[in-house]
Amino acid sequence: MKRKKVSVIGAGNVGATTALYLAEDNLCDVVLVDILEGMPQGKALDIAEAGPIRGYKGSFTGSNDYSAIAGSDLIVVTAGLARKPGMTREDLLNKNAEIVSGVTREIVKHAPGSMILVVSNPLDLMTYLTWKVSGFPSERVFGQAGVLDSIRFRTFIAMELGVSVSDVQGLVLGGHGDSMVPLPRFTTVSGVPVTELIPPDKLAALMQRTRDGGAEIVKLLKTGSAYYAPAASTVQMVDAVLNDHKRVIAASVYVNGPYGLKDMYIGLPVILGARGVEKIVELPLNAEESSGLMKSAGIYKETLAELKVNA
Ligand code: NAI
Ligand code: 2OP
Repeated sequence: MKRKKVSVIGAGNVGATTALYLAEDNLCDVVLVDILEGMPQGKALDIAEAGPIRGYKGSFTGSNDYSAIAGSDLIVVTAGLARKPGMTREDLLNKNAEIVSGVTREIVKHAPGSMILVVSNPLDLMTYLTWKVSGFPSERVFGQAGVLDSIRFRTFIAMELGVSVSDVQGLVLGGHGDSMVPLPRFTTVSGVPVTELIPPDKLAALMQRTRDGGAEIVKLLKTGSAYYAPAASTVQMVDAVLNDHKRVIAASVYVNGPYGLKDMYIGLPVILGARGVEKIVELPLNAEESSGLMKSAGIYKETLAELKVNA
């Protein structure tokens, strides 16, 4: 059977780590693309050369030329800037919007049949922009954030209870930012709701730590943001699509109706498989959960209006 091909745009921390994990899981051939000359080529060659010991094979190449992405089944977009001193949130938004729009136009030109998995921040807005600029059906354009936010929540719960993280299942919805909505009622330890196991004040602290999860890593690293867990989350989504796993996970997806949300991208539970976003799963949210989601959606809807979408 022909190996699948995945191209990763942006060969920085998240992009290169995603490429490495894709290789280690023997999921597909990988093309890394970046604007920096030699950098994606060097990282791809380095990944290929680790194969004899790490036990993977396949084609791992780097390029500064988008023609290399032709024939990709899926494209992961990690290109973008991190916020620099003196830069406002709007400056970052507009700069990354410019980068992501340019990348999307290249994808449309060279890999029109692909799916696009967006990782660049601000995530929900960049995914919306990618969808608009690409003109692809919305089920083929989705963003990674919910898996990362959920694994952070699961990790903190496992640490608190001293149990295996494999037995903790959890969901975090909403936008990838301060307004995200961890859902303890839908978070369980081997089927037992976490609300039965952790007192409310402690649980509230773990939910807040989850909301601050990205900032906690930035504060420690000082020179950048998280990439191991973001790359692992991204690869779980790629695997779900390439192997039609029909995983039930949180992802930033286009919504126009479900949950009372209109014409936006935001983190919701979905079934992810070979057709991309195959279904939005509608959970029976209580009033508090629903108002958290609506509040988060409101923030993104407002910022979306500021975003210059040049489709
Ligand atoms: P990084 O700075 O290490 O890598 C970004 C790469 O993008 C650089 O190598 C840069 O040269 C490249 N790039 C810039 N403009 C480009 C263009 N026009 N075409 C191709 N490549 C281009 O940053 P890192 O840590 O890899 O993060 C990447 C993005 O992912 C950031 O926007 C970050 O905020 C976001 N992120 C999102 C997460 C999520 O859960 N959605 C989690 C972690 C990071
Ligand atoms: C994170 O949550 C920066 O979005 C990135 O770590």
